[in-house]
Amino acid sequence: MRHGSSARLVLLLATLALGACANQPKRAAAPQAPVGPPLALLPQPAKLERIAGQFALSSTTRIVVPSGRPDVKHVAEQLAQFIRSARGISVLIVEDGAEAGAISLVVEPSIKNAEAYTIDVDGARVRIAASDVRGLYYGAVTLWQLATDPSAREGIPAVRIADAPRFAWRGVMLDSARHFQSTDDIKHLLDQMALHKLNTFHWHLTDDQGWRLEIKRYPKLTSVGGCREPVGPDVALTGSKNKPYCGFYTQAQAREIVAYAADRHITVVPEIEMPGHAQAAIAAYPEFGASGKKTKPSTDWGVNTWLFNPDDKTFTFMTNVMDEVMAVFPSTYIHVGGDEAAKDQWEQSRAVQEKMKSLGFHDEEQLQGWFVARIGKYLDEHHRRLIGWDEILDGDVPTSAAVMSWRGVKGAIKAANAGHDVVLAPSPTLYTDYLQSDLPSEQPGRPQVQSLRTVYDFDPVPADISADKADHVLGAQITAFSEYLPTWQRTQHAIFPRIAAIAERTWSTKADWDSFIQRLPAQMDRYREAGIMPADSAYAVSINVAAAAGDKATVTLANQSGYGSIHYTTDGSAPMPQSPTYTAPFEVPLPTTVRANAFANGFGLAGPRDRSIDAASLARRSSDELATCTDKLVLRIESPEPLSGPRPVYRVDIMNTCWTWKAAALDGKTAVDVRIDRLPFNYQLWKDAAGIVDRKTATRNGELEIRKDTCDGERLATLPLPKEGATTLHGKLAPVSGTHDLCLFFTGKPEQTIRVLGDVQLL
Ligand code: ACM
Repeated sequence: MRHGSSARLVLLLATLALGACANQPKRAAAPQAPVGPPLALLPQPAKLERIAGQFALSSTTRIVVPSGRPDVKHVAEQLAQFIRSARGISVLIVEDGAEAGAISLVVEPSIKNAEAYTIDVDGARVRIAASDVRGLYYGAVTLWQLATDPSAREGIPAVRIADAPRFAWRGVMLDSARHFQSTDDIKHLLDQMALHKLNTFHWHLTDDQGWRLEIKRYPKLTSVGGCREPVGPDVALTGSKNKPYCGFYTQAQAREIVAYAADRHITVVPEIEMPGHAQAAIAAYPEFGASGKKTKPSTDWGVNTWLFNPDDKTFTFMTNVMDEVMAVFPSTYIHVGGDEAAKDQWEQSRAVQEKMKSLGFHDEEQLQGWFVARIGKYLDEHHRRLIGWDEILDGDVPTSAAVMSWRGVKGAIKAANAGHDVVLAPSPTLYTDYLQSDLPSEQPGRPQVQSLRTVYDFDPVPADISADKADHVLGAQITAFSEYLPTWQRTQHAIFPRIAAIAERTWSTKADWDSFIQRLPAQMDRYREAGIMPADSAYAVSINVAAAAGDKATVTLANQSGYGSIHYTTDGSAPMPQSPTYTAPFEVPLPTTVRANAFANGFGLAGPRDRSIDAASLARRSSDELATCTDKLVLRIESPEPLSGPRPVYRVDIMNTCWTWKAAALDGKTAVDVRIDRLPFNYQLWKDAAGIVDRKTATRNGELEIRKDTCDGERLATLPLPKEGATTLHGKLAPVSGTHDLCLFFTGKPEQTIRVLGDVQLL
């Protein structure tokens, strides 16, 4: 569990494995090269050699740039800003000065990859070399990381680095349609992307629930399509159920984002969804919808069935939209969505069916392929390239279209082997709305845990892509769909620190989890310094308890990554490195509050966690501690109330309101209290809706039943439900001895609202 010795081993191996960097005179391995935790460089450079010494930064340090290169001078200004933020020192930029004592930015055309760079730090100078400003910028980022490394208190640690990325597409997708972020939030994200050497910001700008980009020719896209009724806890954002949730980016704001990103060598790839995920657009302009009917921007997450009409009038609309999109976004790629286009409206439309027949198509997928290919041709004519979600492969799209694989990696394999360029964005692995741990401190979202390690272990080149097609893999991205990310703070929790994992896996050729998890704590400090609250789920201690004989409880402590040393207290004090070390499960008397944290190098790795244990808590389970009976569509959903302050969160299979308490100790238990709630049901499940479990009700509002062993087992309690939502049910429990599984379910089925279970207390 401790990594102190392996840190040194990793470092030793790294030092041995490194030849001298390109274009550098060979030096003997320096025996005095420092040992200790690896330098907190993220992503890990391709070649890194630590040598003895430091470079001392001071207010007399200069950055030297070649004359006549304003672009290089601009990188120097960005580097000067990094140094100011890291050290509070203002350094001077000079042209053609001496390298001795200075930080030099050197243009070296022999370095082939425009994003590649070398950096040499010793006691006398820092030299960053690249053939292009992109490489110089990444060298500056690496220097900033060196300057903010925990070992840099004495000066910037001496190193020789030769570095280049593995992939050209190193990305983050942000959904601004379901929830809307301010331009400041997006700039905050772009700042962080740049500091991770990520270079592609995929901006999901339109969806059923909102159209977020101003299109001057079609103003209703934003005046109508940019507003919807608040969904669930959105009322806390709008302040009232009657106040719409609105937002869009003007073209001037979008251009500002594009420029801000470009200054950090990030390309913004806009996404305009078609032919599905089109409800907000059709709400604004019903004449472009396949059904011809009027609608409103959706207030339901899931698969809405509004489709664009594949007629000439709609193509004119779409190409007009594309003209404005291309004018704002200079990216080569334009993302046209293509996912989850349920074909009901095309199947039901006589005009669409006739169109299909006239084109000689036998199914709607071919029609979608034709639709997408037609837009792709338009983009080609304007020297752009189409990229779409992997459903575009279901029709015949030309290989010039790039494919973004989200339904796992199958789409990427099929597409690359067929000659398409591909980007890996597989759900659930790289979807940040999946939660990172089972800790009770996690936020609402999808609770099928995708841990930091799961993200890190993802290799962007799936094994089933044949070797000669591997070059079609452009790279990978994490994807932040925002149904459950209503605020920038929640979005931060979802993205950070996974952003570091995707950065390393798309930049570095070699993956090394043990090294990564040691480098990350310093990066987490950098996030906090930048005003970002990352998820500490990989390091935080989970405190598990079980009843033990003689009014005691057995406490088990663990952290997800296994990194660090766990220390705990039982006297209410804050855990410190000097507190007792956890080595094995231990017993505590009742009541006791256990507090714990993981530590490395004398610092806490996470926020301390605590748990109060008493006789009542041992006989209580929250919905997070129960299993759902099925895994049809399990979510952690948040109550809309209260409007301010923390709101309760419930874990529920929204298609089957049924939970299991495994091995409940029932001796002497004669009654039960169950805290329940009723929440809005804002989901469109399309064909899956047929799988919603409906249980026969016996009374007007239905009931909560508790069964022994299985959900068909002996009925131990039937608690009639009141009409209202949040309440605590109290009832008798048929006497049972020993330990049994309990099945708890609501009768009826979710319709406008869904019943959820908060916690169950055996009495
Ligand atoms: C997607 O998640 N529908 C791309």
